[in-house]
Amino acid sequence: MVLTIYIKMALYSEKVMDHFLNPRNVGVIEDADGIGEVGNAKCGDIMKIYLKIKDGIVEDVKFETFGCGSAIASSSMATELIKGKPLEEVKELTNKAVTEALDGLPAHKLHCSVLAEEAIQKALDDYYSKQK
Ligand code: FES
Repeated sequence: MVLTIYIKMALYSEKVMDHFLNPRNVGVIEDADGIGEVGNAKCGDIMKIYLKIKDGIVEDVKFETFGCGSAIASSSMATELIKGKPLEEVKELTNKAVTEALDGLPAHKLHCSVLAEEAIQKALDDYYSKQK
């Protein structure tokens, strides 16, 4: 157990471990303006993002992630990056920005951050489709 934790801490940055162990913005927004759910067929992980939008700003954001520690850390960091931001900025969020904010992810875990980017973009698409 101690050895496993030691190996994981060597693989992952302090920020990844922090967001994995203390994820921010976990939960559901019942009256969300946009919801995006994505999954990775290979690993089976699923991520769901809820957006509350007011006056073109992300007023609130929550997530539910059923997946690995990197996916949880990526969701947590991604929600922190978009909270309070205008939609024009949110649209530009990339998995690279999420990974950089986490001080990196191991190469075989980069797809976890892609899930966060995709879930947010899907939630935005859902929001825009409801505006029409
Ligand atoms: Fe698939 Fe992390 S291993 S999202």
